Amino acid sequence: MTTYLSGIQSSGLQHLGNYFGAIRRHVEGAAEPGEHFYFIADYHSLTTSRDPVTLREQVRETAITYLALGLDVERAALFRQSDVPEVCELTWLLSCLTGMGLLERAHSYKDKIARGVKPNVGLFTYPILMAADILAYDSTHVPVGKDQKQHVEMTQDIAQSFNAIYGEVFVRPEPVIPGDERLARVPGLDGEKMSKSYGNDLWIFEEGKKLKKAVGRIPTDSRPPDEPKDPEGLLLFDFLALFVEPEELDDWRQRVQVGGAGAPGYGHLKQRLIEGIDANLGPARERRRELLAHPAEVDAILAAGAERARARARATRDRALEACGLRG
Ligand code: TYM
Repeated sequence: MTTYLSGIQSSGLQHLGNYFGAIRRHVEGAAEPGEHFYFIADYHSLTTSRDPVTLREQVRETAITYLALGLDVERAALFRQSDVPEVCELTWLLSCLTGMGLLERAHSYKDKIARGVKPNVGLFTYPILMAADILAYDSTHVPVGKDQKQHVEMTQDIAQSFNAIYGEVFVRPEPVIPGDERLARVPGLDGEKMSKSYGNDLWIFEEGKKLKKAVGRIPTDSRPPDEPKDPEGLLLFDFLALFVEPEELDDWRQRVQVGGAGAPGYGHLKQRLIEGIDANLGPARERRRELLAHPAEVDAILAAGAERARARARATRDRALEACGLRG
């Protein structure tokens, strides 16, 4: 059976990297045959979040983001990670056979340390909780951005270690990363990977003056419009590629490359980018506003999703407990 699963942290607002690398693919993928589970990783957010009010609000905001962007909740279960506490039980079972070395090799952990984050134990064991998330639902396909690939590979290793000792309890998951690098690792406004923690992100629903200001931050240079330029080196083109059709993109590329009177200036291209963002995401902004006015509906959707997800996680938890001698 094909089972798609993915999670997204609720710390901070969801950005264009989350959208292209994950959410849009989840929304479109829900039409594929198979089961679909998408959750808001609030246990994971607790590794950094300290304000209960904000955390609660951001969980709902993340759910609204999925709904506004069109997730079909008849086909996909949308739920809150912490509504399925069985994943914590599985986390412990998996922790007992995960080597320290495996966790020490995690890029995302090393990157946080390099950036001066003072690690707590939760941050260190984060990949084990993520493995429990994935294995709890017998997930076969895990659609994520490139930055999460290693975590899914660690899940494969952890599942293999468990199965080697206790028999075939867990299903091996495969990461599903976009083939197009521009989607697998969406750049931030400074050209680094877009990330909530780097301060270079653009919120999916940004609009008006704030959107203009954010787009204004994309670095350019002082070369005049008529000077021929190589579009490959221009970050602005990476963004345009996300929002305009390939034929139009080619046309802009050629004009920039040739230079002369017909070439657009950076300001012109930034304006076109804003129009592209408005055209693509404007309707979802409206749906978000409507959903914000109906929090009870959103909570009901999350509760129904959790019920579906929990049934699956309970069965896996029971199988795992029995296999290692804690039940049966
Ligand atoms: P998170 O919340 O950091 O990111 C959510 C999803 O967005 C993708 N993403 C990106 N894709 C392309 N370009 C970018 N700049 C970019 N930034 C983020 C991420 O790859 C991810 O798919 N640990 C996970 C949440 C999680 C999870 C899971 C995911 C918890 N349990 C189980 C899958 C399966 C995380 O922090 O993602």
